[in-house]
Amino acid sequence: QTEGLIGERLHLQFIKKLTPYLLYCVSTAVIGSLQFGYNTGVINAPEQKLRTFFSNVSQSRYGEPFQSQTITLVWSFAVAIFSVGGMIGSFSVGAVVNKFGRRKSMLMNNILALLGGGMMGLATLSQSFEMVIIGRFIIGVFCGLCTGLTPMYVGEISPTAVRGAFGTLHQLGVVIGILVAQIFGLEFLLGSDTLWPLLLALTILPAVLQTIMLPFCPESPRYLFIVLKQEEEARKALVRLRGTEDVDDDIQEMKEEGMKMAMEKKVTILELFRSPNYRQPIIIAIILQLSQQLSGINAVFYYSTGIFSNAGVSEPIYATIGAGVVNTVFTVVSLFLVERAGRRTLHLIGLAGMAICALIMTISLSLVQKTTPSLSYLAIVAVFGFVASFEMGPGPIPWFIVAELFSQGPRPAAMAVSGFSNWTANFLVGLGFPRLEEICGPYVFIIFMVLLILFFIFTYLRVPETKGRTFDDIAQGFAARVEKPSHSPVPEAVVVENKEPAPMSPTEK
Ligand code: GLC
Repeated sequence: QTEGLIGERLHLQFIKKLTPYLLYCVSTAVIGSLQFGYNTGVINAPEQKLRTFFSNVSQSRYGEPFQSQTITLVWSFAVAIFSVGGMIGSFSVGAVVNKFGRRKSMLMNNILALLGGGMMGLATLSQSFEMVIIGRFIIGVFCGLCTGLTPMYVGEISPTAVRGAFGTLHQLGVVIGILVAQIFGLEFLLGSDTLWPLLLALTILPAVLQTIMLPFCPESPRYLFIVLKQEEEARKALVRLRGTEDVDDDIQEMKEEGMKMAMEKKVTILELFRSPNYRQPIIIAIILQLSQQLSGINAVFYYSTGIFSNAGVSEPIYATIGAGVVNTVFTVVSLFLVERAGRRTLHLIGLAGMAICALIMTISLSLVQKTTPSLSYLAIVAVFGFVASFEMGPGPIPWFIVAELFSQGPRPAAMAVSGFSNWTANFLVGLGFPRLEEICGPYVFIIFMVLLILFFIFTYLRVPETKGRTFDDIAQGFAARVEKPSHSPVPEAVVVENKEPAPMSPTEK
């Protein structure tokens, strides 16, 4: 009964923190996540239309159509250049936010969406396939910035008690974006011969919407206070976000963090790897990002239609949309679980589930090819299970946990490095999967299964729980580990990780 009461109290605290203004600001930021998802998913459906367009341009320019090899080359280029842009954008995040702050960076980033979306939208009118490629590149840079800016801003304005749930909203934005792109990409909607440029240019609309909404959001109070030393401005922003005049706890927490930061030099990317205090968390951040991408999730999202048709599914496009729906539903499940079960547990469950589903996928895909066509249903179920497990932990958690693992000083540099690792791995899977599939056939997912098991072991041994802890407390946990003698008989990481979340911070009481 007591437990029930405590649960009830926590729930009430949770609800109390959700002021309408805070929700408005988070929703505004999460438009950036939607953009990343939309542009990830949008290129899948119109592949054939784009190929035809490339060929037509060549015909009208040079008097003959491109050979099919050239078309494939131009097509792969248009797909891959998005991730290259993403690598550049995500890597620039640290420099951009340090110079312009969080809010202005998001505002300015939308110029890239207008530019890139505009170029792709006008490609057929100007008979230029180069515009599709340059447009995709610019949109990639834009999305790379979004994947750093949104989680950082959301993490910084959230009260500690709901930081994980809000962090998961970034991923919810991403998956809704993917789903919308899959649906709009249907032939009878915007995926037709004439409308595909509009499908690609549609990213302009959310950019305009965010540009209108952002001026009503405050700059991140942590940035105002700790970086710009504007205590009054920070207090004003907090009062609006928390819906109460009593924000002393937040201010106190930032003061402590700020004081510690004043004793440190500005943290550069190199410093992250050199300083023993940051080395542990940056390695964890990078490996968690790699666990997200090398789980093979985008092999499904980029190539699911092909995977389903190999599995003998007659309407693969609808199975793909089904995967998008499962993806969205399970992100919502994770949203509700993340403040109860914790990040570490959910990540472990997700990785284990994905590994099991990868095995079932392999069995069903290989048996389908060996004359058991009814197993195509099993393949669909396995893919759905794979996606569902992904969204329990490996989808949402790596994106927001980086902002949690670092305090204000090293955070921008850490976001840049980890975002860059994510995009690089994304690029490699996107580029490498078709070739791997050619080589390994139905056994291709065994590779991901092995990687998933390795990531599971790493997470079990090394990743701390961050639920309910302040940024400062988490950073101190790592510092304490560094001070511990390394010949401790029990693996030190396990000792720290398995402890209950630290006593509630002043902000939560
Ligand atoms: C994550 C990944 C992204 C992937 C998506 C699928 O946000 O970063 O690459 O496409 O999840 O839901």
